[in-house]
Amino acid sequence: MYLLNIRENEDRKQLIKQSIDLNNINILITGAAGFIGASLTLRLLSELEGSTIVGIDTVNDYYSRELKEYRLGLIEKKAEGSDCQWSFQKISITDREALSGLFEQYHFEVVVNLAAQAGVRYSLINPDAFMESNIIGFYTVLEVCRKYLPKHLVFASSSSVYGGNTKVPFCMSDRTDTPISLYAATKKSNELMAYTYAKLYGLPCTGLRFFTVYGPFGRPDMAYYKFADKLAGGEKLQVYNFGNCKRDFTYVDDTIEGVFRVLQGAPLSSVRTEDGSEEQAVPYALYNIGGGNPEDLMEFIRVLSKELGAFGVLPEGFELEEHIEYLPMQPGDVEITYADSTELERDFDFIPKIGIREGLRKFAKWYSGYLRS
Ligand SMILES: NC(=O)c1ccc[n+]([C@@H]2O[C@H](COP(=O)([O-])OP(=O)(O)OC[C@H]3O[C@@H](n4cnc5c(N)ncnc54)[C@H](O)[C@@H]3O)[C@@H](O)[C@H]2O)c1
Repeated sequence: MYLLNIRENEDRKQLIKQSIDLNNINILITGAAGFIGASLTLRLLSELEGSTIVGIDTVNDYYSRELKEYRLGLIEKKAEGSDCQWSFQKISITDREALSGLFEQYHFEVVVNLAAQAGVRYSLINPDAFMESNIIGFYTVLEVCRKYLPKHLVFASSSSVYGGNTKVPFCMSDRTDTPISLYAATKKSNELMAYTYAKLYGLPCTGLRFFTVYGPFGRPDMAYYKFADKLAGGEKLQVYNFGNCKRDFTYVDDTIEGVFRVLQGAPLSSVRTEDGSEEQAVPYALYNIGGGNPEDLMEFIRVLSKELGAFGVLPEGFELEEHIEYLPMQPGDVEITYADSTELERDFDFIPKIGIREGLRKFAKWYSGYLRS
């Protein structure tokens, strides 16, 4: 198992993180029935010893509830052979009383907030859902954390905060104050809200900007999954911006490896300087988690159709071009996402590295089995 080797920030010679041993502690994962939440829970259950992992989720119907139940089933199964305890409750992060009750019972050392209303395009259709889960919900998580002060709150942000940024790669120092969807605005708000709680109440918070995460039991509302569904159903794919689009796709195992490492290093509220004295700091950190290797969308689709063909989802001699409809850009979409994950590499010695061939093969393998189940 990777154990965080707390390193000194080379420029300032400061101890930059508090090391957290994830074994024998209580961990809360919100959005545990979701794609990233379930993937993280499975990883924690297979690697940790003596910990209690509590998952909460509303299991809402934004996309297939059946898929969310399927993920919870995988977790149940994994928990049976695990050295950890697993407990799941259908609770909304907007429900302060229920959340407080859980904190009172478990006194979580680590909290991972992955519950959210996701989906750039859906935020044009149902903005209420975004304000409710992403703003009120996250505020409630922060308020409860303020009272119970876990050692580390890690929360999901998104590459969408970079808005219409045309400068690539997207660096942590780039401006993020011109969001082009309400979804992005809620994620940027989360970063600011968490910073405030870190500054005012000393709550150690780390935000993670995920970049188009894909993989087995992923999200059916995301383009790659929709493409697979359409190709499997013999329908045409709608490819926006006439296919002129690049995405920094991150295979889910890479994302989870990044999260797993970050959980073990909480930002400190005071840092030791070179002369040995203590300096106050805001215990807040923010990272990009992306491979830094944006793929051309059309190449991604070609590899996907090849892998779906290899697993028998598409018939032999399948002609991809006959199944593509090229359309103009959609409101809220961006032409390119491209992560600069230098800070993640510097502080946690990790950078995503799984390429689309390997990642899409694993997705296609799972997808073919799930279709037939
Ligand atoms: N998957 C990606 O590519 C990606 C990219 C950028 C950011 N993110 C962010 O990462 C996080 C996890 O994403 P995901 O892909 O697993 O999404 P997901 O939709 O699969 O998971 C989110 C889960 O949260 C639950 N949920 C929604 N509102 C809730 C509430 N009020 N209380 C409790 N549960 C609630 C949903 O039922 C869902 O199961 C989200 O915050 C998302 O915005 C994901």
